[in-house]
Amino acid sequence: MVPLPHSLMAVTLIAISILCPSRVQSIGVNWGTTASHPLPPSNVVELLKLNKITKLKLFDSNPQILEALSGSAIDVTVGIPNSALRTLNSSVKSAESWVHDNLTRYLSGRTRIEYIAVGDEPFLQRYGSQFYPFVVGAAINIEAALIRAKLSNKVKIVIPCSFDAFQSESGLPSKGHFRPDINKTMTQVLNFLAKTRSPFFVNISPFLSYYQNKNISLDFALFKETAHPHHDGRRLYKNSLELSYDTLITALTVAGFPNIDIVISQIGWPTDGAPNATVSNAEIFTKGLLDYFHNRKGSPLRPRVMPLEIYIYTLLDEDQRNITAGSFERHWGLFTFDGQVKYQVDFSQTTKGLVNAESVEYFASRWCVVNNNINMSNASGRAMEACTNADCTALSPGSSCFNLSWPGNVSYAFNSYYQQHDQSADSCDFGGLGMITTVDPSVGSCRFNVELKASFSDFLRGSKFDFSLILLVVTVWLFLDRV
Ligand SMILES: *[C@@H]1O[C@H](CO)[C@@H](O)[C@H](O)[C@H]1NC(C)=O
Ligand SMILES: *[C@@H]1O[C@H](CO)[C@@H](O)[C@H](O)[C@H]1NC(C)=O
Ligand SMILES: *[C@@H]1O[C@H](CO)[C@@H](O)[C@H](O)[C@H]1NC(C)=O
Ligand SMILES: *[C@@H]1O[C@H](CO)[C@@H](O)[C@H](O)[C@H]1NC(C)=O
Ligand SMILES: *[C@@H]1O[C@H](CO)[C@@H](O)[C@H](O)[C@H]1NC(C)=O
Ligand SMILES: *[C@@H]1O[C@H](CO)[C@@H](O)[C@H](O)[C@H]1NC(C)=O
Ligand SMILES: *[C@@H]1O[C@H](CO)[C@@H](O)[C@H](O)[C@H]1NC(C)=O
Ligand SMILES: *[C@@H]1O[C@H](CO)[C@@H](O)[C@H](O)[C@H]1NC(C)=O
Ligand SMILES: *[C@@H]1O[C@H](CO)[C@@H](O)[C@H](O)[C@H]1NC(C)=O
Ligand SMILES: *[C@@H]1O[C@H](CO)[C@@H](O)[C@H](O)[C@H]1NC(C)=O
Repeated sequence: MVPLPHSLMAVTLIAISILCPSRVQSIGVNWGTTASHPLPPSNVVELLKLNKITKLKLFDSNPQILEALSGSAIDVTVGIPNSALRTLNSSVKSAESWVHDNLTRYLSGRTRIEYIAVGDEPFLQRYGSQFYPFVVGAAINIEAALIRAKLSNKVKIVIPCSFDAFQSESGLPSKGHFRPDINKTMTQVLNFLAKTRSPFFVNISPFLSYYQNKNISLDFALFKETAHPHHDGRRLYKNSLELSYDTLITALTVAGFPNIDIVISQIGWPTDGAPNATVSNAEIFTKGLLDYFHNRKGSPLRPRVMPLEIYIYTLLDEDQRNITAGSFERHWGLFTFDGQVKYQVDFSQTTKGLVNAESVEYFASRWCVVNNNINMSNASGRAMEACTNADCTALSPGSSCFNLSWPGNVSYAFNSYYQQHDQSADSCDFGGLGMITTVDPSVGSCRFNVELKASFSDFLRGSKFDFSLILLVVTVWLFLDRV
């Protein structure tokens, strides 16, 4: 009986295609550059390739970055910063220049731009109404510009929605709704997305849910089997991600868009800057997240339907990020600021573990510390001053360098300032209190960093220099031409 195996196979194939969602889900990363010495784009693109990461979300449309991604086979989301929304809302012309300057030439090259994210969490509650009134107008203008440039079939417009844009006072997902102050705008956003068949980008943060909400336990946020589940009628929630996700599903359903595709555009766990922001918790969280995603069980309100994509927040630590929300904001990286692995996870089913960035260039092995052979009565004041520019977030309560007592913490502040100023001798002066050493002052998990030499900011400075050089050459040439 030869035909039987064949028909069995056919039945199995049909069964598989019914049970598994049709689209391929994938995992990407966010990459921001709010750092004093960002890792250069060439190193980052290499890091992504080494780790087989094929989806990337950016917060702007930096030309050097987009050029470095050319030919990489990485699908890119470019971002429009909140500060640009007002102008883009005000005229189609400005949207046309944005598309022309930031998109057209890369698309005609070999950079694969998949989405344009309009705004960076414009609905974040702490921004008030600074940005969101311009979001839909900006999106509509960009869409018009894309149509005009014949790019609307290649690139989709999305609007990243923050974790605090939807809520449920009782904590029950079935009572979810959008925040009342953005309710009207959300209706316009959803209509726009439905019309352009774009997915709903949402940032979900079990870390922040735990950090800000007494009702979420750490175990529940970390996907632990032992976590006490939350009940919502007959539905059972075993982790914070599912709970937030279904709160959003209810909000979308109430708004009339129950079936819109969802992309989780930011999700992660920080490794420093708050008591439970540790490497070991981040490892547990990320493993739990990847297992959850690969299991494809879906959530109680969307069983077996997974988000289209998820983007880990974030690729690298960034030492200049705004810390209004907390010191942890500078420590979300899957990798350290210089592209070194913090913990091991199997990022995709075809890779085994993560690998470090290669060919990273550092300044010399030199640190700035306090000279404790002289009168140090002014040291604390100097350290405080240094910290207004430097990154002292590792000194905050519960962080990796919190255990350094005075004057070790003064040295930490001095060194951070010195490294951020490219190890220039005068940046280790501090009124005679600073001293340069070649002995690494790091203790245990408290790392005294040495900054990156070939950094991206040098690269930018370099390209400005090239430009003025070209101007000079052209001027001289014009001058000679006249003579
Ligand atoms: C957005 O632009 C439109 C068209 O120029 C304008 O009518 C509207 O007032 C702008 N929105 C805001 C919030 O300023
Ligand atoms: C994108 O285009 C706008 C408008 O032309 C321009 O002002 C802006 O600098 C560009 N952004 C980047 C990151 O190049
Ligand atoms: C907290 O969670 C419990 C069950 O885990 C629930 O009964 C209660 O309503 C929740 N409260 C809030 C404010 O979310
Ligand atoms: C806004 O609120 C109204 C009344 O509560 C509700 O019917 C509507 O669905 C809400 N819209 C969104 C987008 O949540
Ligand atoms: C979380 O933080 C609390 C408060 O600092 C601490 O007692 C607890 O041990 C931490 N747990 C984990 C798993 O990090
Ligand atoms: C950080 O963000 C807050 C609120 O969003 C803002 O008021 C503040 O000016 C920002 N700080 C810096 C240094 O940009
Ligand atoms: C250190 O300097 C302060 C004034 O800046 C002075 O009051 C103090 O006596 C000095 N200490 C020593 C040990 O010299
Ligand atoms: C401490 O700072 C004050 C004011 O800048 C200065 O007058 C004083 O001499 C300093 N003390 C030491 C010991 O450096
Ligand atoms: C800080 O020191 C305390 C007590 O010596 C210890 O329990 C704790 O683990 C240390 N924390 C860090 C982050 O090293
Ligand atoms: C260093 O530690 C001392 C004493 O524990 C504290 O008063 C001071 O604020 C700390 N300085 C910094 C920059 O963290």
